[in-house]
Amino acid sequence: MMATAIKVFFPLDSVAVALGADDVAEALSDAASKKGCNLTIVRTGSRGMHWLEPMLEVERDGARIGFGPLSPEDAPGIIDALLDPSVKHAKNLGPVEEIPYFREQTRLTFARCGVIDPLSAPDYVAHGGLKGLAKAAQMSGADVIAAIKTSGLRGRGGAGFPTFIKWDTVSRETADQKYVVCNADEGDSGTFADRMIMEGDPFLLIEGMAIAGLAVGANQGFIYLRSEYPVARRVLERAIDNAYAAGVLGGNAGGSGRRFDLEVFVGAGAYICGEETSLLNSLEGKRGEVRAKPPLPAIHGLFGKPTLIQNVLTFCAVPTILDKGGEFYRDFGMGRSTGTMPFQLAGDIKYGGLFETAFGVTVRKLVEEFGGGTRSGAPIRAVQIGGPLGAYLPQSLLDLPMDYETMLANGAGVGHGGLVVFDDTTDLLEQARYAFEFCAEESCGKCTPCRIGAVRGVELVDRIREGVDREKNVTVLEDLCELMIDGSLCAMGGMTPIPVRSALKHFPEDFGVKPAASAAK
Ligand SMILES: Cc1cc2nc3c(=O)[nH]c(=O)nc-3n(C[C@H](O)[C@H](O)[C@H](O)COP(=O)(O)O)c2cc1C
Ligand code: SF4
Repeated sequence: MMATAIKVFFPLDSVAVALGADDVAEALSDAASKKGCNLTIVRTGSRGMHWLEPMLEVERDGARIGFGPLSPEDAPGIIDALLDPSVKHAKNLGPVEEIPYFREQTRLTFARCGVIDPLSAPDYVAHGGLKGLAKAAQMSGADVIAAIKTSGLRGRGGAGFPTFIKWDTVSRETADQKYVVCNADEGDSGTFADRMIMEGDPFLLIEGMAIAGLAVGANQGFIYLRSEYPVARRVLERAIDNAYAAGVLGGNAGGSGRRFDLEVFVGAGAYICGEETSLLNSLEGKRGEVRAKPPLPAIHGLFGKPTLIQNVLTFCAVPTILDKGGEFYRDFGMGRSTGTMPFQLAGDIKYGGLFETAFGVTVRKLVEEFGGGTRSGAPIRAVQIGGPLGAYLPQSLLDLPMDYETMLANGAGVGHGGLVVFDDTTDLLEQARYAFEFCAEESCGKCTPCRIGAVRGVELVDRIREGVDREKNVTVLEDLCELMIDGSLCAMGGMTPIPVRSALKHFPEDFGVKPAASAAK
């Protein structure tokens, strides 16, 4: 008798692996062979619903049915349920795309993540990939850049700078060599979207970078990847090999008749190497120390050549823009924050994971409605937005919409889209201390306000906690913040005051001062 053949989709994503996905995959294979079933496991990215990982999917009647979260002990029962759809299984989640957390999203960047085999170029193409590159290959660089301008795309790495301006600047430079560099250092606490897309849909990044190379006239690209991402490294390197074989990269990139080469460079694990000029120094084999700007990397970047440097998610938005048009992308979002953002819900949250939606969604909707509030059920006290240098928002500001301008007007920033939730047991003075501690640890040391200021900040917070001249030391703390903002060479020292000031402004009681005594802006 022929063995029954079944194909399932199961994540290779780091979160799923950390939760035991590799052991579950092995147990599934064992159980399948014992039951005489010929099981094919396609390792995919994750759908981003972390509380359901490791989650298995099987296709039935055109829909993907999920089972999760799985442990190795579930394997025999799962095989039974796969062999006979009428078998009821407690971990059957029904159609994955009907799970409310998933259904409520607008997935432009993450549309394929968790669906396709990340290493298969044909699978990528079958799910709409390479259409953007095919169009870009037939367009002038100026027309590609015009589409990016129309889309309103802004950098997703943190600063939200209009993307087309950088592309235009690099394209206008005359040089024997130009570079395209992807910032995949993803150092912000509570962020993981770059990793997820590189693990789950690496061709999207490759396609976005190839389009950029053609548009600005660069024939060499580098992906600067943080060393803590070994799975992403493995997937990217194999996907790049496959992209060469498929003609996406190489001498006739995407059928353009022009060359674009791409390689992965693994960083050495320093937060400051995410800052673009430190990153370029590191990529050149030097110490990861910030360079003074100007000159801008777009004019004098890697090895002194014009260099386009963008975050992973910025490049990953590009293929959709070229395929569907700048207007299509621009119509999502609000104001000058166009398109979608893959928000990352982390910290003390019930439904942690990735949630891609248009700009304009409120913080509360993300963390309470979709994220389900805290895991413990305790009230939310603060949400830190945009990484370790981001503001702590109190309950009273959770109804703010997520867009660059609103956040800025409230002393915060969208950053890389990470939201870290803290419950009502959190001491915000400790969090302010942590901001200085982090800066002292990660400072590149080039300028005094940051190198010395961060250490003085830790000492000041300790004195405030101990009640030593509390009011006076709060005033000195505010002065120190101002000095760091005004005098730091880069945003590391310049933004460390943001979490400190927001903690002091919104949670003065944790510093033992009355709201009026806190003049923090
Ligand atoms: C201390 C520091 C750390 C940074 N870390 C990252 C990072 O991990 N990833 C990233 O894309 N951008 C990071 N940035 C922002 C980059 O300097 C730069 O703005 C970004 O790579 C530009 O790409 P984008 O316009 O696509 O956002 C960091 C900036 C600073 C000051
Ligand atoms: S602000 Fe800090 S990280 Fe940035 S250049 Fe100065 S010392 Fe280096």
